[in-house]
Amino acid sequence: MSNHMAAANANSIYNYHVVRQFSIMAIAWGIFGMGLGVLIASQLVWPDLNNILQPYTHFGRLRPLHTNSVIFAFGGCALFATSYYVVQRTCQVKLFGGWLIPFTFWGWQAVIVLAAITLPMGLTSSKEYAELEWPIDILLALVWISYAIVFFGTIMKRKTSHIYVANWFFGGFIATVAVLHIVNSAAIPVSLTKSYSAYAGAADAMVQWWYGHNAVGFFLTAGFLGMMYYFVPKQAGRPVYSYQLSIVHFWALISLYIWAGSHHLHYSALPDWAQSLGMVMSLILLAPSWGGMINGIMTLSGAWHKLRTDPTLRFLVVSLSFYGMSTFEGPMMAIKTVNALSHNTDWTIGHVHSGALGWVAMISIGSLYHLIPILFGKTGMWRTSLINVHFWLATSGTVLYIAAMWVNGITQGLMWRAFNADGSLTYSFIESVQASQGGYIVRVIGGGLFLLGMFVMAYNTYRTVRHGAPVQVAEQQPPSNTQAA
Ligand code: HEM
Ligand code: HEM
Repeated sequence: MSNHMAAANANSIYNYHVVRQFSIMAIAWGIFGMGLGVLIASQLVWPDLNNILQPYTHFGRLRPLHTNSVIFAFGGCALFATSYYVVQRTCQVKLFGGWLIPFTFWGWQAVIVLAAITLPMGLTSSKEYAELEWPIDILLALVWISYAIVFFGTIMKRKTSHIYVANWFFGGFIATVAVLHIVNSAAIPVSLTKSYSAYAGAADAMVQWWYGHNAVGFFLTAGFLGMMYYFVPKQAGRPVYSYQLSIVHFWALISLYIWAGSHHLHYSALPDWAQSLGMVMSLILLAPSWGGMINGIMTLSGAWHKLRTDPTLRFLVVSLSFYGMSTFEGPMMAIKTVNALSHNTDWTIGHVHSGALGWVAMISIGSLYHLIPILFGKTGMWRTSLINVHFWLATSGTVLYIAAMWVNGITQGLMWRAFNADGSLTYSFIESVQASQGGYIVRVIGGGLFLLGMFVMAYNTYRTVRHGAPVQVAEQQPPSNTQAA
């Protein structure tokens, strides 16, 4: 069967068109968002870079554009692509929703483009990870509700008897993000580009961090666990280690995450009991997080040898190791006395990126390497050796980034709390900035390596689509449920 026919055959069974669109855009936005990451990291080393096009290129304006484009544009497109793919394959039906399907793609791209225009202009609600002003928020809500209709509609018309666990995670992520976004973005508009939060004072802070932490828990975790539960077994060619554990994992994770947000507000005006509740819930959260991580890693039982030859599988497994690391670190940082040292320092930034680069980006990249050849009717990626190069660039980049931030963070925390015998501060703030300079340079190098890896991926993808060897046999059978096969 020709390349064209293989793709056409797959398309008649499933809607791969939208999956292809989201997959390609995930790579493009990944380069854009991480490129911005390298730029803002460089601004912290060479402050003159703030002046490229003042005021639009100032750190304060580009930082939220970085976070929005890596989380929502890169991560979001990867989540749309994989969830649309997985729900079709495991339910053995084509996507439900008609015109709503292309609307989710074009609407999502429109949200991102509007973010890329308004954030450098300084138009922001000033709520972290929810900076977009109200008209864009409304568009985002419409896209998200359409996403929910497409996803749950597809589940409803499934041909299989039960719902594969990856869909539980994708479904939990889609439903919760809708609630989080709509509640936290409630605002009173005063003009087209300015609004005020519907909440005030400590309540506003609590709603914001209930949103913020669950953006981590559901956007940056649950959705990507959906990826894990499909692509790790698929790539390893093994069934999920424990189906029972995956169900416990799901319910424990979603019922605990929602209570932990107040660990972002330690030592603030929030009532003390609420802070302590956040701390305790965060500590308990370690259990389901590690349960899930172990379930993913143990799926490799009997397939460990494949790691030697399969860099895509390496991406997936190393991402789980970083997931385990960041979900150990997070509960530790949620302990109030530890947070007294880590809060506001680069330690937090290190924690964020061990989750963001090590977990979120790596599992997405691994899943995309699995997906791209299938979507374009090819036998595999153009060059496995380039996946391997990418793997080492990404891994060493992540390690350099987070190690530099740990050193910086602990140095800053200790310098800020050092007192002389007479009660005065031992160090001025600028001395702690000077002490951080080395770490900032290492971060630029680490981030640069990670970004370089994304360019390698884009090139390999281009060559795969253009010159990859076409699949010769008919599309493989739809998957059996429990093996996510
Ligand atoms: C080349 C890769 C990357 C580089 C060089 C980079 C760099 C940076 C820098 C310099 C900051 C600001 C830190 C500060 O204010 O002191 C930042 C913040 C942030 N980045 Fe990245 N980043 C990269 C990739 C990513 C990815 C892939 C994600 C998510 C999937 C991500 C998520 C975030 C978040 C959430 C913050 C805000 C952290 C906070 O407020 O505590 N980054 N990044
Ligand atoms: C059990 C799991 C986790 C717990 C209990 C946890 C806990 C924490 C704590 C205590 C902070 C510092 C808050 C502060 O001092 O301001 C934090 C910050 C953060 N964590 Fe985690 N974390 C977990 C997993 C993750 C994962 C897997 C990711 C990313 C994929 C992540 C992303 C973030 C981000 C983006 C921030 C910075 C928020 C901000 O201030 O802008 N966390 N987390």
